[in-house]
Amino acid sequence: MIEQVQLNITYEVVSSIEELTEQERQVFHLAQQATDNAYAPYSNYLVGAALLLSDGSTHQGTNQENAAFPSGLCAERTLLFGVGSNHPDKTIELMAVTVRRRHESHFLKACPCGACRQVLAEYQNRQHSPIRLLLQAEDGKITRLKSVEDLLPFMFTKDML
Ligand code: THU
Repeated sequence: MIEQVQLNITYEVVSSIEELTEQERQVFHLAQQATDNAYAPYSNYLVGAALLLSDGSTHQGTNQENAAFPSGLCAERTLLFGVGSNHPDKTIELMAVTVRRRHESHFLKACPCGACRQVLAEYQNRQHSPIRLLLQAEDGKITRLKSVEDLLPFMFTKDML
């Protein structure tokens, strides 16, 4: 017998920054501003991430590249590992990710890689509450997700160990 299973992934497409809540807009803008600090001399692909913690503080991260390519790290993980190290007791409520190319001001579609999705899953599971996500989409739109589950179905979790 073969059972067909369908996954239900939910996300919203928000038509512009103006449609976000004030809090979301602030975090999203911080992610966009963070692209200015990306260190990406090899790819010229500037990724900026920002997040909001339960104490109301905001934090930014960027991709950090290296001449020895595997030694670099994505913006999302740079940010998450920094916050995990410095604010381990705080809950991550919201994270935004944006991308642009060097010398270009318009933003591109942001799509966290598989490894960053897995790290997001770890932090969400650790804090037992959802991390909301805002991803830069095409044409100034924003993809809004309520939880990491919608970004990484079949996530690997500690109870599988
Ligand atoms: N990158 C990120 O920072 N986040 C992503 O979600 C995808 C890729 C970085 C890694 C590398 O510095 C550059 O983008 C090109 O892959």
